[in-house]
Amino acid sequence: MIVTIDGPAGAGKSSAARELARRLGFRFLDTGAMYRAVTLAAKERGLDLADAESLAQLVREIRIELVDDRVLVDGRDVTKEIRTYDITVSIQHAADNPAVRAQLVQWQREAAEGVSVVTEGRDQATVVFPNAECKIFLTADESERAQRRYLDLQARGEDVCYDDVLAAQHARDERDCTRAVGALRKADDAIEVSTSGMSPDEVVAHLEEIVRSKMP
Ligand code: DC
Repeated sequence: MIVTIDGPAGAGKSSAARELARRLGFRFLDTGAMYRAVTLAAKERGLDLADAESLAQLVREIRIELVDDRVLVDGRDVTKEIRTYDITVSIQHAADNPAVRAQLVQWQREAAEGVSVVTEGRDQATVVFPNAECKIFLTADESERAQRRYLDLQARGEDVCYDDVLAAQHARDERDCTRAVGALRKADDAIEVSTSGMSPDEVVAHLEEIVRSKMP
């Protein structure tokens, strides 16, 4: 069974999807982590992120894997490095790049071969797994999403201010919704869930109920 969870940044997708996968005994795919890993690898190699061809070449040379809760680039664990603010604000180049998207989509489909998955991202229901048995579109108020992201970054020891986080999120939302390939869009057959005012436990419980109602 394939469960897709798409939605904007900060809606609580990652933590809800991870816990949902654990409860169901499904594999969890954090596809945003793959775009982050491409961005990190490009920065480490000193590539010009705005140069679409060098990013396309990069994904032909490296291998990104999601193993349990870790993200590996050519076998190296980059789980922590990909979560910094610096990566987050640079990510649009990888996310806008059709060649990068095509490669990551292929790896995402391979990761779901023969297993049940909960996968989260922006294009999981619309592009990667259009035949998924259960599609969820997770949203929340813009200010609540920014507040969560801000607290998360602070907890990681990053020196950021709320207004900057909100502005960066707003810009990312715009880009995510308008990119030519793999734009953030609710699939026609997705169930929309707003997490505003809900605790993480309530969100997971609600999602689990939806998934179980779709199980054969
Ligand atoms: O979910 P996240 O914040 O880790 O995602 C990071 C970025 O990657 C986000 O700005 C949009 C992009 N992304 C994407 O384009 N497609 C996906 N399936 C997942 C993430």
